[in-house]
Amino acid sequence: MFSKLRTEGRGWPLAVQLTAWYSTASFLLVALATMLLYLGLADNIRQISEQMLIDELDVCRALVKVRGGDNHALREEVEVDSAIRKYQQFMVRVLDPNGKALATTPGMDEAMSAAYLEHAQAGRMNTVFWLESPHGVPYRAIVAKVPRDPQGKELWTLQVAVDLTEEQDVLGHHRTWIAIILAAALVFCPWIGFIIARRGIKPLRQVAETARHISSTTLNERIRTEGYPEEIAALAHTFNDMLERLEESFARLSRFSADIAHELRTPVNNIRGESEVALARTRTPEEYRDVLGSCLEEAVRLSELIESLLFLARSESPGDHLKRTREDLGVLLAGLQDYFEATASDNGVALTVQSGQGVIAEVDRKLIQRALSNLVSNALSHSQKGGRIALSAERQDKHIRVQVRDTGSGITPEALPRIFDRFYRGDPARSRDSGGSGLGLAIVQQIIYLHGGDVQIASDVGKGTTVTVVLPAAA
Ligand SMILES: Nc1ncnc2c1ncn2[C@@H]1O[C@H](COP(=O)(O)OP(=O)(O)O)[C@@H](O)[C@H]1O
Ligand SMILES: [Mg+2]
Repeated sequence: MFSKLRTEGRGWPLAVQLTAWYSTASFLLVALATMLLYLGLADNIRQISEQMLIDELDVCRALVKVRGGDNHALREEVEVDSAIRKYQQFMVRVLDPNGKALATTPGMDEAMSAAYLEHAQAGRMNTVFWLESPHGVPYRAIVAKVPRDPQGKELWTLQVAVDLTEEQDVLGHHRTWIAIILAAALVFCPWIGFIIARRGIKPLRQVAETARHISSTTLNERIRTEGYPEEIAALAHTFNDMLERLEESFARLSRFSADIAHELRTPVNNIRGESEVALARTRTPEEYRDVLGSCLEEAVRLSELIESLLFLARSESPGDHLKRTREDLGVLLAGLQDYFEATASDNGVALTVQSGQGVIAEVDRKLIQRALSNLVSNALSHSQKGGRIALSAERQDKHIRVQVRDTGSGITPEALPRIFDRFYRGDPARSRDSGGSGLGLAIVQQIIYLHGGDVQIASDVGKGTTVTVVLPAAA
């Protein structure tokens, strides 16, 4: 039963630990309670027996006073008194000042002599003391001097003793019961403890059991949260939240794979179709050149797509692969302006750069260039003749804000939330013509995240789009 619970070297299972704590505590409690009860009982019995001994002494003392002169009567009283008692068999001996026994309870001389008692008393006059007879029987006794006459000239000695065998039997009986109770507690405390502990952690096992059953194909399953104690319900909720996220990223991943297959299929099909048509009959060299040209175009698009996918895959693996250098972002923007100048003027679009002071950041230059050029290329392809594209960089406290603003077509509010999704294209037909695969903004976002920055898009349909990139400034 325990072996199933045990996991490699991770300490004892919870049920066992709880059982150990519970049973130790409850056993100690039982032991302490019975021990205290026993001690209380023993003390009580002793007190009562002592009190009765003293009472008996007082009775004898009165007897000496009343019957002191008549030894025969005294002896009779002493012997009769012992004969009528059933419990607490007192033994009484009355001695005159010379130590001669005047009256003795029958059997007392056999139990212990007057001298033996005198010796055991050892000066404790009028005090109850404990002794063992020569035969090994335990007694409680008291010795006192009593005046026979009112003047107190003649002092007699009273020896009163009581056999403790019965009292010790009673206590022994109790000790046996205590031993039985403790032995039972030793068995039942761990047993009941284990049952309680198992009941307590049962929901935990159920949660673990459900979690074990969930695989990538059953990610839609959830752990039951009602009917559990608060803590376990919280655990189940946490688990369900995690499943929710897992399900989401699994769905995204499979959508992504489907998209990849779809994106790769189109150019490959194009190449195949054109080649098949070209090979159907003999063609002129010009026709072959045309087909090869468009095949090359498709191949270039394919390799760009693959390169983008590889980039995204690589940049997703954990770890900082950035080759950071101190870069002036104003200078980078100026470089981009140079690069896109020709295309912009061909399209009749004005491209301007505005850069503030101290726009220095520690970045991977190649990656930031790639991200920014993706943004400028988007702005260009969505701008009409006469449009304006403004690039700007400015320092804001510990950050640098780079903006790419255009006066182009803008993005619809429905499309805006999906703009950074991989393969998402606002207008697929137009986008593919311009070579866009829908990965551009995904790559931008990835690069900016890698640098510990953030990127946001604001857009008004018909008015234009503003992309804002925030990067940590260099110290
Ligand atoms: N500056 C912009 N103006 C208008 N629409 C834009 C702009 N930038 C991006 N978009 C929209 O976002 C979509 C995704 O952009 P992107 O990820 O770069 O993919 P691609 O450029 O390959 O289409 C584009 O298809 C386009 O619809
Ligand atoms: Mg793009």
